[in-house]
Amino acid sequence: MDSIYKEEIIDHYKNPRNFGVLDAPDVHVQANNPLCGDKLSMDLHLKDGVVEDVRFNGRGCAISQASASMLTEEMVGKSLDELAKTTREDILQNLGIEVSYARMKCALLSLGLLRSALVEAGVALDFEEE
Ligand code: FES
Repeated sequence: MDSIYKEEIIDHYKNPRNFGVLDAPDVHVQANNPLCGDKLSMDLHLKDGVVEDVRFNGRGCAISQASASMLTEEMVGKSLDELAKTTREDILQNLGIEVSYARMKCALLSLGLLRSALVEAGVALDFEEE
C-alpha cells in the first residue's frame, strides 16, 4: 500500500465501520468500479425519510473502502434530502489526501452507491454540479 495514505484511511480500510449487511433492508443497491471490477453494496433502514441504519459490503481497494466507511459514519440520523446534497468534494474532504485521476473512481464509488440508494428510495437528484 502506498505510504502516502493517511493513517485514518488505513484504519478505515483495516477496520471498516458499518461493514456488513442489514436484515430486510428498505434499500439495497450495488455499484462497481468499471476500471477494476470491484463492487460495493449498501443497505439502508429508513424511517420517515431518515437513515436509521446503514451497512456497506463488498470488495475494493483502501481508498474505496475507506471512502465508504467514512461516508456511512455520517449517514445515520440524516434525512435522505440532506444526504442528496453530498458532493464529490465532501467525499474527497473526508479522505483528506490528494486523489489522483486514476484513483478518482475508487474514491467516488461510495458516492455512486449513496446516489443509487437515494434514487432507489425515491429521491429526485440534481446532477448539475457534476
Ligand atoms: Fe478497485 Fe479501487 S482499485 S475500487
